[in-house]
Amino acid sequence: MKIHWGLLLLAACSTAEPIVPPPPGNADAAVVVLHEDAAAAPDAAARFDDAAAPADDAAMPPLTVLQPEAQRAGDPLLGYAALLDRGYVGCGVPDSAYRLAMGSAPMNVRLPGRNALNADLPYSQTRYVTSSTVTVVSANCLTCHGSMLDGRVVVGLGNASADFTGDQGQTADLVGLVLSRPDEIREWQKWSERVKTISPYIQMPIIGVNPADNLANALFAHRDPTTLSWSTTPLMEMPPTTVLPVDVPAWWLGKHKSSMFWVGSGRGDHARIMMTASTLCVDTVAEAEAIDAYFPDVRAFLMSLEPPAFPMPTDPVVAERGRMVFTANCSRCHGTYGAGRTYPNFLVSTDEVGTDALLAVGSSVYAARFVDWFNRSWYGGNARLEPKQGYIAPPLDGIWATAPYLHNGSVPTLAALLESSTRPAYWRRTYGTAMSDYDSAAVGWKHTVVDHGHADEPNASLRRTLYDTTLLGYGNAGHTFGDPLTSEERLAVIEYLKTL
Ligand code: HEC
Ligand code: HEC
Repeated sequence: MKIHWGLLLLAACSTAEPIVPPPPGNADAAVVVLHEDAAAAPDAAARFDDAAAPADDAAMPPLTVLQPEAQRAGDPLLGYAALLDRGYVGCGVPDSAYRLAMGSAPMNVRLPGRNALNADLPYSQTRYVTSSTVTVVSANCLTCHGSMLDGRVVVGLGNASADFTGDQGQTADLVGLVLSRPDEIREWQKWSERVKTISPYIQMPIIGVNPADNLANALFAHRDPTTLSWSTTPLMEMPPTTVLPVDVPAWWLGKHKSSMFWVGSGRGDHARIMMTASTLCVDTVAEAEAIDAYFPDVRAFLMSLEPPAFPMPTDPVVAERGRMVFTANCSRCHGTYGAGRTYPNFLVSTDEVGTDALLAVGSSVYAARFVDWFNRSWYGGNARLEPKQGYIAPPLDGIWATAPYLHNGSVPTLAALLESSTRPAYWRRTYGTAMSDYDSAAVGWKHTVVDHGHADEPNASLRRTLYDTTLLGYGNAGHTFGDPLTSEERLAVIEYLKTL
């Protein structure tokens, strides 16, 4: 029997992106407004929902600096061990069922330095003993934050091939069939109930886009914010089942960023925000505090990561020309690289960047209650969600490895990102991660342009691999900053970007 439950257990790390007006008082003190241009910022929310959009959103300036805030110190080596070996998710598949279905992992998907329980598991799974003394296996952070690339595991690379198109709840039922020990059955029932609770809220129409924000919201809705106790029935209105697509940011960018998430909403203590993966099964404040004690180490490990180097030769003369074009056209938002690097930590308003605004704007309209839950909860004790109507201009280190591009993964290559008229409206790729799947000239994934979208694709399995930029939240418009460049300048910028 081979069951595909690699994705099951889904730790949510991520959090709601809703846009709410800043709270009264000065919770916003850390935000420095560079220049005010309210007239140029029509209410983007109105494009999606006139009635519900808060009128204040129009005041978001084009560029806002998010200032860094103090973080707890930690030990990166302890953090690596904790990330891979510890039970921060709190429940999982009983080990006997896991062993029966999965066996040992091939060597190329294992990671070194793991403890004896975990040595034979794939990088994305962790085996541990739960508080009820049952040994279980659950997905860890690397399910979404690790990926194969060119035959090797890259820790911290967002998984752009994860498949959330299935119904995870059905798979959860299958696991129960092979269990006989009462303690394992009880443990499976807990895990299975959680998975079934969230499965309608994490089902995506295509492979490769991530539902973590909605997943977190679904879990928040079932928890008391103060005691963290789980409620079988939701305690507030559940999130929508139409899930906005998100591309998982690379962890090695974190050391340069003062906030977490595409919309810059993760503020205050980042280690605390990262551990919201625990909202799947950690049901008491005492257990959450024990996890919180080692999460500064996990964060320290994340901050120690470096991007992988581009695996082919680059032309230093062209790259240097590209650096100059980049400095003139791109550094304002994305900073400078190399010795004495600078990074402005800008949150760019949706009107200024022009990319699909739904992630930044839509959730505010529908989901402010989840921001409120977090900020009132135990998790909000030293951290905050402060979503605004814009996207972070991310650092571009290792950008060659992180295709597809933009917050929703709507653009397959850097060449298409920099010349907006060439971006495909409908496209598919293999989801393979070998260099044979990779386009080293356009920098990104090889892909096939298709002449129709989901509405005209009757075959369900073909739909699952068809990126349709006309779906809500999947738009590929905006970020036209490369358009005014000559094609030679664009090629030079791409050559330079390979070297970051
Ligand atoms: C189900 C998939 C999933 C899992 C599991 C997951 N994450 Fe995430 N993570 C995401 C997504 C998606 C985002 C981006 C969300 C956004 O910006 O809206 C994200 C964002 C982050 C960020 C912020 C990155 C940035 O530059 O803004 C950090 C740090 C992070 N996750 C750490 C973790 C840790 C640590 C764990 C495990 C405890 C974890 N994540 C588990 C999907 C996941
Ligand atoms: C006004 C600010 C601004 C300027 C100028 C700008 N960018 Fe961006 N860039 C952004 C923002 C904001 C995003 C994220 C948008 C989104 O994902 O919706 C982004 C995203 C990107 C990404 C994709 C990142 C990823 O991980 O998917 C690349 C690559 C990029 N920019 C390159 C460039 C280059 C090259 C230039 C110059 C030709 C440039 N940018 C100019 C603000 C800017």
